Amino acid sequence: MRKLKVGIIGTGKIAKTHIKSYLNDENAEIVALCDIKPGRAQEKADMYNLKVACFTDYKELLKMEEIDAVSVCVWNNCHAEITIAALKAGKHVLCEKPPAFSVEQVYEMKRTAEQTGKLLMFGFVRRFGKDADTAKDFIDSGMLGDIYYAKTSCIRRRGNPGGWFADKNRSGGGPLIDLGVHMIDLARYLMGKPQPVAVSGATFYGIGIDADVKNYNWYRSEDFSTQSDVEDMATAFIRFDGGQILHVETSFSQNIEKDVLSLELYGTKGGMRIYPDLKIFTKMENYLADVTPIVHLGNDLFTEMFQNEIHHFVTHALDNNPNCRNMPEDGVAIMQILEAVYQSAETKREVLIKNEK
Ligand SMILES: NC(=O)c1ccc[n+]([C@@H]2O[C@H](COP(=O)([O-])OP(=O)(O)OC[C@H]3O[C@@H](n4cnc5c(N)ncnc54)[C@H](O)[C@@H]3O)[C@@H](O)[C@H]2O)c1
Repeated sequence: MRKLKVGIIGTGKIAKTHIKSYLNDENAEIVALCDIKPGRAQEKADMYNLKVACFTDYKELLKMEEIDAVSVCVWNNCHAEITIAALKAGKHVLCEKPPAFSVEQVYEMKRTAEQTGKLLMFGFVRRFGKDADTAKDFIDSGMLGDIYYAKTSCIRRRGNPGGWFADKNRSGGGPLIDLGVHMIDLARYLMGKPQPVAVSGATFYGIGIDADVKNYNWYRSEDFSTQSDVEDMATAFIRFDGGQILHVETSFSQNIEKDVLSLELYGTKGGMRIYPDLKIFTKMENYLADVTPIVHLGNDLFTEMFQNEIHHFVTHALDNNPNCRNMPEDGVAIMQILEAVYQSAETKREVLIKNEK
């Protein structure tokens, strides 16, 4: 079988997971790397013993005709520009989350994918976990009935990664756009992908990076710095077109005892907890019953999710099949929600979402 020739743009932390996943995929071959920071692409090439072309300007990488597809792993403010240029250069694109900086941008990315006929897949990686697959199997079998409400939290006590993550001009925001995006997407995916119609949200500031905290470790960006102008915490109440509600809360910094990762869905026939562990709450033979699916999750869920995501991208790109699991319209729905939360936080009013485009 022909191998997919891949270029990776942005070779910071998450690019390492992309590189490892492509290396493990027998149908893919990495042929080029690019990072605006001089030397960083070559450093990653050396780290993985890759004999590939290295660039500091993504436009040079896109000129390589042999490249079929790219992973876009750069700061959030460059996602749209690089994705659109890559699609126009005839490449399939796997663009990391969040999809873009604005709804306008993600519409343009979607239009460009449609015009060029190339695959545009967004990096909603949590859809590729075995836990998400199992949850979806039970939901599709009707075990939850009609899902009408979901709530999710991704809370860090201290965990602002600093660097570009904490610089609104490059990140677009804090934990909402960085962490909340995954949870909102997964909840919406499992709810059957309803369209958002209204959002009420709030953001909170006042703690910041708190870099002088002693003996406490957290994920730090490749170019860590201690300034932050992004929110510490965000919360939102999202209303969908079928009347379903999603409540989300997420933080980089919050005075809570422990970090929290949770997702629960509630339906007319059953409820389900997906995080921190999978369990179904239902009624059987006139008894209330808790059902725990037995699923052998791997030791490293994060690596496994990425491997599955990259494999899905590679096979769809090789088949020239743009109908992947994470479609451009999902990117639009998620950007509509994120943008509306920030607008609502600013105006202190509910924001209505129009779906006219
Ligand atoms: N799916 C996930 O779970 C997950 C996890 C972490 C990060 N991400 C996403 O991946 C992206 C990168 O995050 P990261 O943690 O790797 O950050 P990082 O700072 O470690 O790496 C980003 C790299 O992109 C480079 N870069 C920035 N603009 C560029 C441009 N125009 N051209 C070429 N290179 C450019 C930077 O120099 C840096 O090396 C972000 O969009 C982030 O949201 C996703």
